[in-house]
Amino acid sequence: MTFVSDVLALFAYLFVFVIGVGALWVIVLYIIDVSQTKHAVRRNFPVVGRFRYLFEHLGEFFRQYFFAQDREEMPFNRAERSWVYRAAKNIDTTVPFGSTRDLRRVGTTIFANTAYATLEEDAEAPAAYTIGPYCRQPYVTDRLFHISAMSFGAISKPAVVALSRGAKKAGCWMNTGEGGVSPYHLEGGADIVMQIGTAKYGVRNPDGTLNEEMLAALAGQPQVKMLEIKLSQGAKPGKGGILPGVKVNKEIATIRGIAVGQDSISPNRHPEIKDSASLLDMINRIRDISGKPVGFKAVFGGYDWFEDLLRLINERGVECAPDFITIDSGDGGTGAAPQALIDNVGLPIRESLPVAVDLLNKYGLKERIRVVATGKLLNPEYVAAALCAGADFVASARGFMFALGCIQALQCNKNTCPTGITTHDKKLQRGLVPEDKAERVYHYQRAVEHDVAMIAHSCGVARPRLLRREHARIVQANGLSLPMNELYPLSDSHHAREG
Ligand SMILES: Cc1cc2nc3c(=O)[nH]c(=O)nc-3n(C[C@H](O)[C@H](O)[C@H](O)COP(=O)(O)O)c2cc1C
Ligand code: SF4
Repeated sequence: MTFVSDVLALFAYLFVFVIGVGALWVIVLYIIDVSQTKHAVRRNFPVVGRFRYLFEHLGEFFRQYFFAQDREEMPFNRAERSWVYRAAKNIDTTVPFGSTRDLRRVGTTIFANTAYATLEEDAEAPAAYTIGPYCRQPYVTDRLFHISAMSFGAISKPAVVALSRGAKKAGCWMNTGEGGVSPYHLEGGADIVMQIGTAKYGVRNPDGTLNEEMLAALAGQPQVKMLEIKLSQGAKPGKGGILPGVKVNKEIATIRGIAVGQDSISPNRHPEIKDSASLLDMINRIRDISGKPVGFKAVFGGYDWFEDLLRLINERGVECAPDFITIDSGDGGTGAAPQALIDNVGLPIRESLPVAVDLLNKYGLKERIRVVATGKLLNPEYVAAALCAGADFVASARGFMFALGCIQALQCNKNTCPTGITTHDKKLQRGLVPEDKAERVYHYQRAVEHDVAMIAHSCGVARPRLLRREHARIVQANGLSLPMNELYPLSDSHHAREG
């Protein structure tokens, strides 16, 4: 009995102690809050005001799981993400009852199906396309949908390995991003597009200029099929890459040739590329050294510079042209970017792509320069719409991140990614098992191409690249749709793509 009452008394003392400490802590917080001068809410509502920060943080998760409707969230809504998750897991992607998409929304694409859809036995696989016909080693691929640039550094080792293995199995290419070619890109055996960013990571002299020996060695790897000069990307036009110091571990520093633990900031432009002439010079210099197709990636802000470039190409001769261009959307993604650039700078792909294609047609260069479209084109309907506009290929970064398991926690810039994709924290990377995720990458890539073909057949054409602007109708402000070839008519008479 005495033992039980002793224990009860102990708990009572503990209880009073804990309450006392709690009360003391609240008093301390109260004094801190009323006396600080930085936060108005905490000064006016001491202690209670602190909950605001907690709820603001938790709100991100609650909104996603409990409150947001299927088509509400940004950058990607649940319907878009769920399709990728299901496709990646190779499970049923059908939906019940009816569409949750609002077909009256301005900009929505509605495909013009035909009364006489293409029979399955009449369907054809996408044609193999050659990129870089004048190179010593042109690249030929029959895949439409590829993995857009993401550097090792911005994404983790297991993520790169999973993408590389998945890309190999799917037969698509994988772009290294500006962080250089790492052993993990090569590990899976996929076709590699080697990106050269403004800091020229992996192929740089200490002063940041191009090291031709390093370029020849890396580009000489048989897996490297093409090279891409990054002029700009949609999330941060006019700003170099930013890899936060927390992510710059020893290995990444070695691959890039930079200091461990320090923010890795690239120049906001290639110092040597200042106009059309110097851009063509650089393209041809890299192509001469590598012998492989060379293109560039840019987000468009207007078209004068592009027209100037196309004019110069025709003056110098078509051999000197870039073999491909990657047009990124102003709303493209990244690991970390200033909000002012990520939100408001650069044209969206739905606007820039048809105009760029029209200009290529106008200068007779559409067959010579292949067009890769990127930017939120992660579901089959967006890929099909880009093909209608005139893209030859589509690439996605965040689509493949979802295939890897990304839950859109939006912490890519913090090294705390809960799914192990954008973190170098080994504990968090444990969750990402490359063997399993490579399969998802493979299934997702195949499912996108499968469903794009399904849209093409519904529109009455035998294969996806036969989709034309008249097959895509765009909803206007009055709620009615207009065919894309009426909105962008020039290309009708110049639609040169072979299909
Ligand atoms: C984590 C991450 C890293 C990226 N790194 C690069 C890069 O190194 N170079 C580049 O040109 N684009 C980079 N991008 C941009 C993508 O390649 C792509 O252009 C953009 O995200 C739009 O495609 P998406 O909407 O399919 O993601 C990155 C994007 C993400 C999400
Ligand atoms: S889970 Fe979150 S932090 Fe990780 S990659 Fe996706 S958005 Fe970025």
